[in-house]
Amino acid sequence: MSITDDAPAATAAASGASATARFHADKSPYDAVRDTPKERVSLLAREVLEAIHDTIRKHHVTYDEYNALKAWMIDVGETGEWPLFLDVWVEHVVEEVANASRVGSKGTIEGPYYVPDAPEQGADGTLPMRDGEPGTQLLWSGTVSSTDGTPLADAKVELWQADADGFYSQFAPGLPEWNLRGTFTAGQDGAFRIRTIQPAPYQIPTDGACGRLIAAAGWHAWRPAHLHVKVSAPGHQLLTAQLYFPGDPHNDDDIATAVKPELMLNPQPQPDGSAAVEYGFVLDPA
Ligand SMILES: [Fe+2]
Repeated sequence: MSITDDAPAATAAASGASATARFHADKSPYDAVRDTPKERVSLLAREVLEAIHDTIRKHHVTYDEYNALKAWMIDVGETGEWPLFLDVWVEHVVEEVANASRVGSKGTIEGPYYVPDAPEQGADGTLPMRDGEPGTQLLWSGTVSSTDGTPLADAKVELWQADADGFYSQFAPGLPEWNLRGTFTAGQDGAFRIRTIQPAPYQIPTDGACGRLIAAAGWHAWRPAHLHVKVSAPGHQLLTAQLYFPGDPHNDDDIATAVKPELMLNPQPQPDGSAAVEYGFVLDPA
């Protein structure tokens, strides 16, 4: 029996609305591009529109299909699923371009479920979780260093993850506010140790507009199991990544196209049934 059987069902509308509200609350996306020249705005908008025009011509898109698209895009907005849509189908290429010149650890997409200021757990601690939190226990140790090998004392490792049912706190109902979300601060040697549980693979919400696209196109909605991290240290570039588990059936066809071989963990089964894993991070100087 699942620990969350008594909880209200997670819905796309609920998690979509949460993701949209979170995005509005924590970012100032317009401010960051206030000085973008008109020429660049025009170039990007024109080329995106031309790509749409080319697709319509190439495939003889009909008025019925155009109107269905219009209705669907309205639905995406009304259910708050634009963060989900963009982070699943677009962000991975933005990340690829943004981080192409890094020489330190590989990153990948952030996705829609990050929440800043998760509780501090020190250099050696346990991710906040419920009593009896289901899932294989995982002991993760690693170090944070700079590209020249210097350990980065006091580096921050923010970790957030789904539970064994594939749900994120603050986006699915019935979970404690900071369940499976925490901030770890490396010691003077750059080392950290984190106790958590292995997350489950999950489907992105299928009951909303994104789910309707997936069903209509005959796609699947699965993401492989993963741990989300943001790793930061003064004077260094922020690293946003996800770490994956070998053998997951969706490592090769992640709906969000976010898996990279460098992000694969190598957990070792322990006699007590838990797993231990070592994985560290190398940050590029800012
Ligand atoms: Fe995730």
